[in-house]
Amino acid sequence: MQVSERRIVRVLNGETLTPPPLWLMRQAGRYLPEYRETRAAAGSFLDLCYNPELATEVTLQPIRRYGFDAAILFSDILVIPDALKRNVSFNVGHGPQMDPIDPEGIAKLSPEGVSAHLKPVIETVSRIRAALPHETTLLGFCGAPWTVATYMIAGKGTPDQAPARLFAYRYPEIFARLLDFLADVSADYLVEQIDAGADAVQIFDSWAGVLGEKEFEAYAARPVRRMIQSVRARRPQAKIIAFAKGAGLLLKDYRQKTDANAIGLDWSVPLSFAVELQKDGAVQGNLDPMRVVAGGASLDDGIDAILQALGQGPLIFNLGHGITPEANPDHVTQLVKRVRGL
Ligand code: CP3
Repeated sequence: MQVSERRIVRVLNGETLTPPPLWLMRQAGRYLPEYRETRAAAGSFLDLCYNPELATEVTLQPIRRYGFDAAILFSDILVIPDALKRNVSFNVGHGPQMDPIDPEGIAKLSPEGVSAHLKPVIETVSRIRAALPHETTLLGFCGAPWTVATYMIAGKGTPDQAPARLFAYRYPEIFARLLDFLADVSADYLVEQIDAGADAVQIFDSWAGVLGEKEFEAYAARPVRRMIQSVRARRPQAKIIAFAKGAGLLLKDYRQKTDANAIGLDWSVPLSFAVELQKDGAVQGNLDPMRVVAGGASLDDGIDAILQALGQGPLIFNLGHGITPEANPDHVTQLVKRVRGL
């Protein structure tokens, strides 16, 4: 079996498959008791991300349990700022924290040492590929420049990304330099993931939804295009999923603007609009993660609506954002059976 025959890769090439392949964002995580156990043994969250043996184990846990069509590398988008020596930590109950960056800090950013710092993550990619069933797609990922920049500027997660928006208006040239810098180091990181065995990669622009039209163009679409072009210049066959959460109508020409193979859709994207977007190529999404918490008929109804609207075209079934710690693992079993028509 060739890599190009893996079901998710086929959909990324524009094929329609029935039933559609599926995986879930954050499928390895706290809703799974086996994850919580490995996580407790690993020490800190970043220790887990940089431990190839344990990171491989937690990547495989949801594959063993549910047989998803893709495994996603267990890591985090914030390993890039960590590699840039921003002193990243994840504190239970507080979310991620790091040293907030200022214009002088941006002027001093250097790609030196980033690749060496991320070696354990690349080692994890090779180990996962060796351990995965042959038919399972392996997804690598990184954060989009805008989303990573929102954490670097604020030094933490923020409800509306106001610090980064303010910084961008105050220091437009310095902010553009930060985005370009992040696009370039992230593209190098994606190439390393692909070379280590990732069949496709996803770029997470989780906070794209707070941007106005011009800003979406400048801070979200353009840097993601820069990344994709940089990856494709070196790996022309690279398959890339771009997920701009909350972008709404601005998704209209996001695929064309970024040159992504597939675009991820959050649950607020109307299915009638998703059908239009699917005419240009593969889409991924977009079940509300709260339906997986609720289970029962509301879970079935949400799944059926997506399959009915998007099942006739290239679709990768997924949630509209990450699965939450409150999700019931049995509801995920229900979801997998329903999508597969079992
Ligand atoms: O999807 C997967 O299963 C692969 C692993 C993965 C994680 N984070 C593991 C994780 C992926 C793809 C991410 C991406 C990520 N990380 C994003 C983009 C996707 C999204 O959800 O919007 C963002 C914004 C982050 C940053 C981040 N990491 C935050 C804000 C937090 C804390 C909030 C939270 O959910 O706890 C994390 C921590 C994190 N990343 C956890 C996991 C499993 C939980 C930490 C723990 O186990 O203690």
